[in-house]
Amino acid sequence: MENNIKDKVIAITGASSGMGEAAAKHLSQLGATVVLGARRSDRTEKLAKEIRGNGGKALAIAADVTKRDQVKNLVDSAVKEFGRIDVILNNAGIMPLSPMERLNVNEWDKMIDVNIKGVLNGIAAALPYMKEQKSGQIINTSSVAGHKIFNGSAVYSATKFAVRALTEGLRMEVKPYNIRTTIVCPGAVKTELLEHITEADIQQANKDYVGAVGISPESFARVVAFAISQPDDVDINEVIFRPTSQEL
Ligand SMILES: NC(=O)c1ccc[n+]([C@@H]2O[C@H](COP(=O)([O-])OP(=O)(O)OC[C@H]3O[C@@H](n4cnc5c(N)ncnc54)[C@H](OP(=O)(O)O)[C@@H]3O)[C@@H](O)[C@H]2O)c1
Repeated sequence: MENNIKDKVIAITGASSGMGEAAAKHLSQLGATVVLGARRSDRTEKLAKEIRGNGGKALAIAADVTKRDQVKNLVDSAVKEFGRIDVILNNAGIMPLSPMERLNVNEWDKMIDVNIKGVLNGIAAALPYMKEQKSGQIINTSSVAGHKIFNGSAVYSATKFAVRALTEGLRMEVKPYNIRTTIVCPGAVKTELLEHITEADIQQANKDYVGAVGISPESFARVVAFAISQPDDVDINEVIFRPTSQEL
């Protein structure tokens, strides 16, 4: 049966670890061609090689999502190498949680740069091609923290609320071009995300929580595949998923 994923060209930001890596593997197993973006290109190169070794099609491109030209190069490279861009998964993100009163203002800036501007850079890179093709799908990773605020999450949540707002605005605008938009909001998933929390008490509390309830990144990969695999006239606009044991 046709899965509507096979032979699609899918660019993924944040493909060097966690959920982006899991999505790349899963989508390639389902027949997609994947173009892997991240700063740690040693990791994406290794992953691309692994996927090609398993008979899939993959290309790794070094891309810092805060640099508009690098994200453009990621998408341009996908089109140059494979002829089109069917899906962009704007997944790169950071979560250095902390209470606002600790004034980790550089981390606020970084979250805005990666989590919001990075997604905007992905949209700006892919949209012209998708408009021209009159088809495409833009999938942006938000979070349960894009619906709820918890201790230390104010700025992170603000960035993930923003991802939902701009994706919903985009959804309404791109009707004439037959483009689908999807927001994915994961709950606690076991990845490297907590490694970048600099406040020791907040990091420990989150490690304890995610260690206890967190689920595997393949959960995200399956949700992304579900959204892509729908028939072209079905647009899955938002999916929230959580560990069954997660209360928040
Ligand atoms: N894990 C969770 O519980 C959870 C829950 C809800 C939402 N999320 C969201 O899910 C997404 C993926 O996170 P994850 O949990 O898989 O964490 P992760 O394992 O830390 O992966 C984060 C990815 O983002 C990339 N990244 C970070 N800064 C970047 C930059 N400036 N340019 C390009 N890539 C950058 C990293 O690659 P490089 O460092 O190699 O550049 C890495 O591949 C994020 O948007 C996160 O906010 C996670």
